[in-house]
Amino acid sequence: MGGETAQAAHPGPVPYDLLDPAERLDRDELRALQLGRLRRTLRLAYDHVELYRRKFDEAGVAPEDCRTLEDLSRFPFTTKADVRDSYPYGMFAVPVSQVRRLHASSGTTGLPTVVGYTEGDLETWAQVVARSIRAAGGRPGDKVHVAYGYGLFTGGLGAHYGAERAGCTVIPASGGMTARQVRLIQDLRPEIIMVTPSYMLTLLDEFERQGVDPRGTSLRVGIFGAEPWTQAMREEIEERFAIDAVDIYGLSEVIGPGVAQECVETKDGLHIWEDHFYPEVVDPFTDEVLPQGGHGELVFTSLTKEAMPVIRYRTRDLTRLLPGTARPAFRRMEKVTGRCDDMIILRGVNVFPGQIEEIVLRTPGVAPHFRIELTRRGRMDHMAVQAEAREDLTEPGPRAAAAAAIARGIKDGIGVSVEVSVVDPGSLERSVGKIRRVADLRER
Ligand code: DLL
Repeated sequence: MGGETAQAAHPGPVPYDLLDPAERLDRDELRALQLGRLRRTLRLAYDHVELYRRKFDEAGVAPEDCRTLEDLSRFPFTTKADVRDSYPYGMFAVPVSQVRRLHASSGTTGLPTVVGYTEGDLETWAQVVARSIRAAGGRPGDKVHVAYGYGLFTGGLGAHYGAERAGCTVIPASGGMTARQVRLIQDLRPEIIMVTPSYMLTLLDEFERQGVDPRGTSLRVGIFGAEPWTQAMREEIEERFAIDAVDIYGLSEVIGPGVAQECVETKDGLHIWEDHFYPEVVDPFTDEVLPQGGHGELVFTSLTKEAMPVIRYRTRDLTRLLPGTARPAFRRMEKVTGRCDDMIILRGVNVFPGQIEEIVLRTPGVAPHFRIELTRRGRMDHMAVQAEAREDLTEPGPRAAAAAAIARGIKDGIGVSVEVSVVDPGSLERSVGKIRRVADLRER
């Protein structure tokens, strides 16, 4: 079965009658809605969450001091450490008995953070994910293969209920059992796949291993997120699978997937669903709010959440805000270029894994799999990049030339000298969910 489908084009912009009422607002109407919701959220947080009451009091601000959206900048930030210190239920604004679902993010750094949802929150979440799927080109009746992990991670269940809400047929594949995923895609013929971009690459290997043409599937659109991925990766995935690849963003503390979504007809960054999540971008060092277009750390305030409102939550994600396009009232965020935590400072130069990804993917003969290893040599930090050869790059000479091309690209593009090797196809670890490409072996 499968294989006979030619690449179907995405269906274009969402028809007016499929837009949510909020998507039809103009900017002034949206801002008025935001202000009312913001004031209610600040009040809810202050009255019901001890942490917020303490922080507002310390900063000398009260909920009623917020008279315009700009006044939000007078309120204190919330950090991942705040959420972790409140483990497990300290950030909840409702009794746990009113919480219908818990999720947790394991975090790469210690204690998990727990998030809770009331029935109303689950409804909001399903709506924003459904809206995201439509913006990505999904329509009622489409089949959606969900290969984000199901469980405490918000990816699987978040995508699942959103797809159902959008009137789609869900295939809850979850992550892993890669050979079976390929079989399911061939047999059940989904139009849409929702998965991390790195696991999509693992699926690509498996299609090739099974001798199935990845360009010949029923898939039309991939909705990729949960980790940073570059424009170069988009081009690679679109080309290899003959699909449209769009970006979905979110984080557990704010709700999960569906905070922002790229529209398939423009692919120009992600529209933030601002009727529910109010964005700011701040300078990560001075904490100052940046004007639109300034690069910095993304900060979110929830506008409708009940169980766990968040006020000025520091995401650690780096991006900038841009005016709306396909949804004129909703600002866009540029594709996340990296996280504050992922920035590598190599002999004084700031390096992001995404920059390396761009260069590796643009090098002929090299597969989209790479790994970065950081070590200390004497007093100097040392970076080694391993990239995988494509199947046809077998000879040592051409492999060395490809490695040299990557090293030159990094030197010219980023300004640092690194050691690069091109290794055998299939030798680097594959992702089943979020991938970690950096191994930091430096002693602390
Ligand atoms: O990753 C939620 C999610 C699931 C989003 C599925 C999209 C799709 P967390 O596990 O809490 O939640 O991780 C959140 O992942 O702060 C970003 O650093 C990163 N991230 C999420 N989406 C993107 C994206 C989910 N589209 C953290 N681009 C965030 C870049 C992303 N990074």
